[in-house]
Order: sequence, then C-alpha cells, then structure tokens
Amino acid sequence: MKNRRTFLKTACKPIVLAAFGIPLLEACAKDEATYTPSTGGQSQSTPDGPIEVDISSSLFVDIQAVGGWMNYTSKNLLLIRISDTEVRAFDNSCPHQGNRDRWSFDGSKFECGYHNNSYTTSCNGSLTCYTTKLEGTILTITV
Ligand code: FES
Repeated sequence: MKNRRTFLKTACKPIVLAAFGIPLLEACAKDEATYTPSTGGQSQSTPDGPIEVDISSSLFVDIQAVGGWMNYTSKNLLLIRISDTEVRAFDNSCPHQGNRDRWSFDGSKFECGYHNNSYTTSCNGSLTCYTTKLEGTILTITV
C-alpha cells in the first residue's frame, strides 16, 4: 500500500491517469523546451556587456580603412569605419524580419539581401546603434 501511495504522489499526472485507463496526450516532462525561431543559422542574441577587440587583427582588416565595413557575425554586429577615430556598431538584425546574414553596403547604406531594404549608417536610423570607443586600435562596443 505504501508503494502505491508513493507512486501516486511522485508520478506525473498523465501516467497516473493512464494507469486508471484515462489516456492523455500530454508530456510528462517537467521542463518545457523553448522554441526559438531560426535566423539563417546565426546566433539569436547580441552579447551583453562591452566587447573589446583589437582592430589591427586580421579578423578586422575590413574596417581598418575609412569606409570599410564588416558583418561581425560571431557577435551579431555590423561594423563600419566612419573616420580615423570612429567605428560605428549596429545590431545586425534586420529591422524587417530579423535576418542577420545577407548584408551589403553601397557606400552610404546597408542593404539586407532578403528583401532589399536599406538602412542608413546614422545612429538615428532603424538599425540598433551601440556606443563605441576607438582608442588606438582598441575598439570597445557597449551593447
Ligand atoms: S529581412 Fe531584411 S529586408 Fe526583409
């Protein structure tokens, strides 16, 4: 009798109900999985906290000259070299549908290749702009 009580107290409801002949289509898992929509295989979130990189690294060769830009996919950032002393950083999530991986730059605007929407490089535009600081070759991005 004690084992039966223990079973009833500890078993999940669908199993108990099924034992009494009442089937349910419900999972017994205690933790539910969270659905996360896909964005072309890219990571979903932008990292929290400041990111510090040395732009003299070969990884950042595309922003070593003024006018250069790159999609820094591992951090979900679009980076553009504005001047010798300024790099702007934007979240690389397209404001239209959130895709992150088909960006191009025409010299004045970023364009998302999914539906060809364009976005200014101004921090007052549609792309989420982050605070940056460039000291020598060290770029700090506060996200
Ligand atoms: S997802 Fe970027 S333009 Fe549609």
